[in-house]
Amino acid sequence: MSTGNLAGKAAIVTGGAQGIGGATARCLAAAGARVLIVDVDAQAASANAEAITRAGGVAACMIGEVSQEETARAMVGRAMGEFGRLDILVQNAYGGGWDRMGTAVEVEPRAWREGLDLLVGALFLGAKYAVPAMVESGPPPGYDPGPWQGAGLRHGAPPPREVGRLVNISSAHGLLQAPRSLVYEVGKSAVIGLTRQMAVDFGPLGITVNAVAPGHIVTERMGQMWEKAGNEEGFHLFELHYPVRRTGVPEDVAHAITFLCSPEASFITGVVLPVDGGMTVQLQENVIMDVKDYILEHPQLKTHFDRPGRNTARH
Ligand SMILES: NC(=O)c1ccc[n+]([C@@H]2O[C@H](COP(=O)([O-])OP(=O)(O)OC[C@H]3O[C@@H](n4cnc5c(N)ncnc54)[C@H](O)[C@@H]3O)[C@@H](O)[C@H]2O)c1
Repeated sequence: MSTGNLAGKAAIVTGGAQGIGGATARCLAAAGARVLIVDVDAQAASANAEAITRAGGVAACMIGEVSQEETARAMVGRAMGEFGRLDILVQNAYGGGWDRMGTAVEVEPRAWREGLDLLVGALFLGAKYAVPAMVESGPPPGYDPGPWQGAGLRHGAPPPREVGRLVNISSAHGLLQAPRSLVYEVGKSAVIGLTRQMAVDFGPLGITVNAVAPGHIVTERMGQMWEKAGNEEGFHLFELHYPVRRTGVPEDVAHAITFLCSPEASFITGVVLPVDGGMTVQLQENVIMDVKDYILEHPQLKTHFDRPGRNTARH
């Protein structure tokens, strides 16, 4: 039996096969939670579940496309069947397509609908089925709230606590808009609105709802993209516009999510936590001027922004 601060809890991580979701599944399991990975990639999902089991954790996986209502229903049913309860839902799955790039004039209605179904609709569906299961599960076994310590006068019984955690993955792109990225930027901004709404709706049930907004995280997939489309000088350019002078790794986000799922975070709800090395708090015009010399000194630098048709800022 784990002694981590999530011991006794059961979690679902969508898109938990690899990348940020993969690290989150491993991190939650290391903190004692039993984890159900839901993903479209069967091979990567079972490899991550096996890695968790080898490390002494408990994990299962289920194949499912999260924008489908049936997946939301089935994943909650599977967690309740396999673990006997549900405490945590991390809504992370996303896979994009080039047809979702563009302005409102360029994007086809089908790409708009499919993109938002996945970016936002899936999170609505996940909560729709997960919240009743969390309420049915109640606080984890052995949870002892201790004597009421809230300040001031209290009338009636203390409110429910430790009933559940929803963590929704937004992005730095939910806080700042990039040109010609209508679907992703609107979707990730909507995740923040959805998170705030759910925090207000589900707080009285003892369920907290928060979002994280990662900056550039070099996942397995991002690493391959850099190998193909960038070079060292280009990658360093990316690092330079982060105040901490590095881009992120999946574990940076996984640790933030695991904290939001911990008992220590029970008074935090409705927030969007940037996990971006300070990228979204610095003034853009200074960044541009600060990196100008670096760019002039390294004219051979290459990033994925150099792909034909990708440069969006110049009109
Ligand atoms: N990597 C970054 O720099 C970054 C930055 C900000 C936000 N994000 C967000 O973080 C989340 C994870 O991104 P990542 O970079 O780790 O991605 P990734 O591609 O490395 O992993 C995504 C996982 O989701 C799965 N998946 C994709 N579509 C799915 C679907 N419809 N149903 C079920 N599973 C599906 C994939 O198979 C994969 O295992 C996404 O919501 C993404 O928008 C990523």
